[in-house]
Amino acid sequence: MSQPRTIMVTGGAGFIGSHTCAELLSHGHNVIVVDNHQNSVPEALRRVESVAGRRLAASYVLDVRDRNALSSVFARHPVDTVVHFAGRKAVGESARMPVEYYDTNVGGTTALLEVMSEHHVHRLVFSSSCSLYGAAARMPLTEDYQVASANPYARSKWMCEQILADVCARRPEFTVHALRYFNPVGAHRSGLLGEDPLGMPDNVMPCIAQVAAGLREHVTVFGDDWPTPDGTGVRDYIHVMDVAEGHRLALERPAPPGLHVLNLGSGRGTSVLQLIEAYQRASGRPVPYRIGPRRPGDVPELVVDGSAASDVLGWYPIRGLARMCRDSWRFQTANPYGYRTPGVPGPAVAEPRATTGPVRLHATPRSST
Ligand code: WQD
Repeated sequence: MSQPRTIMVTGGAGFIGSHTCAELLSHGHNVIVVDNHQNSVPEALRRVESVAGRRLAASYVLDVRDRNALSSVFARHPVDTVVHFAGRKAVGESARMPVEYYDTNVGGTTALLEVMSEHHVHRLVFSSSCSLYGAAARMPLTEDYQVASANPYARSKWMCEQILADVCARRPEFTVHALRYFNPVGAHRSGLLGEDPLGMPDNVMPCIAQVAAGLREHVTVFGDDWPTPDGTGVRDYIHVMDVAEGHRLALERPAPPGLHVLNLGSGRGTSVLQLIEAYQRASGRPVPYRIGPRRPGDVPELVVDGSAASDVLGWYPIRGLARMCRDSWRFQTANPYGYRTPGVPGPAVAEPRATTGPVRLHATPRSST
């Protein structure tokens, strides 16, 4: 067990953020969450505490671009590390609203860096993405592979990495890990935490889960004419708790100042049809599908060589495809409507708003013991 840290998690109520908060809390760290709940609900944080068996130090509803609100959180808590998830992440949506993606993802990161500097906080773990590799010719991908970002979402992540590189070059006190994920899926083994997409899921795994649960008629497979073994898209799916552990190790392991870019992936490629088959085995339910046209912006294959993260962090993805599907199914059956109770309208989608200060969701934090 490493020395307990006081960690701010931006976007901590989101899919990967909430699982990471549970991981950090259960390893003795003190966690403060800031989230504007544009794509998440506060219920996720109550579940984080339940599965970790510990309370968050505090949580605040704010947009990271609101520098005053963010600064007042740093002023209230002895934050020594930040894990930055807050941002927009849908590849297709980013092509429809590029300015919002750059403003949220890039603007949010620059605002955070400014406020961190003001409060002399210099340790950051940044949520980057494998989508910045674009359509790569060589698999599995290593970190030195040339970037070919094919959409505003991927480009926003690439821009953030460039900004982080410049900050580290200018400010040698900064230590930053940029973790490039592939396809995080699955759920916490408790069945209390999982992927809770607002509306129609963009990603294939929640779509498959909803079809298996009978909430949707079929999965539309985006193309079966890709240059892959069965013609459907191949991705490197990775259990969300393996991703959460990668974040914990990145902030716990000693690291020299500077920017450290690491892929988090399993090195194993799975096609859409293989994923559907694995889910049918895990759930015992049929998952009907239809072949549709390719999705704009898609690439045939993305599989990563994760050995750098293993060497540097001692990180190894230990949960395989069957476990990903089993844990996803447990969450789906326990929470057919995600974190929302049926018939009760979900919270209005919180648009970022100028706040006079952070709105604290929790009572005064416990003394941080
Ligand atoms: C996977 C495969 C689709 C939906 C995601 C995130 C992105 C990044 C990487 C973090 C593809 C196919 C999908 C469907 C389908 N994560 N598919 N029918 O596109 O790899 O990107 O992971 O940064 O933010 O979006 O994931 O789950 O959308 O697609 O056939 O209804 O499933 O064509 O081959 P993707 P995905």
